[in-house]
Amino acid sequence: MAGASTTEEIREIEARILGEHGTIRRALDRVAAGASSVLAEPSDQKTRDLEDAIWDLYIALDDHLVMEESELLPLLGRLDGPSSPRSRRLLEEHHLQRGLLLSVVDRTETGALDPERLAAVARRLVESFRADMEYEERDLADLCTESAFALQSAAVS
Ligand SMILES: [Fe+2]
Ligand SMILES: [Fe+2]
Repeated sequence: MAGASTTEEIREIEARILGEHGTIRRALDRVAAGASSVLAEPSDQKTRDLEDAIWDLYIALDDHLVMEESELLPLLGRLDGPSSPRSRRLLEEHHLQRGLLLSVVDRTETGALDPERLAAVARRLVESFRADMEYEERDLADLCTESAFALQSAAVS
């Protein structure tokens, strides 16, 4: 059962995750804008700008996934058990996110895609990561509510 310190810990991690999601959303906005610009009228400069935005997203996201795995995952393990559905979902999502992002970053390095195709793939990546973050934030809000509820129930019993 969650005690007061665990509830506080969940809130702190939630605040940190939401802050980093803000940074990632700005990076995603830059990728989306870069992709739209390439699709509107491709140029070498616009393609380079889009590639730079994808790389910045990669750096922000990679650090974020590591942070969640080192801080949120142990907490979920303590609350639900190490192989709970929530812990498994987090690891599976991160595996998919890394794979998706690495495949796009790889293509920027090898020039394997023409600019329009790269922009189209980047747009899908942005949509997918925005949806993942929304889902994750709902999960975190549920975790905060459950923990506060468990604390309240313990106080009245
Ligand atoms: Fe995550
Ligand atoms: Fe996240």
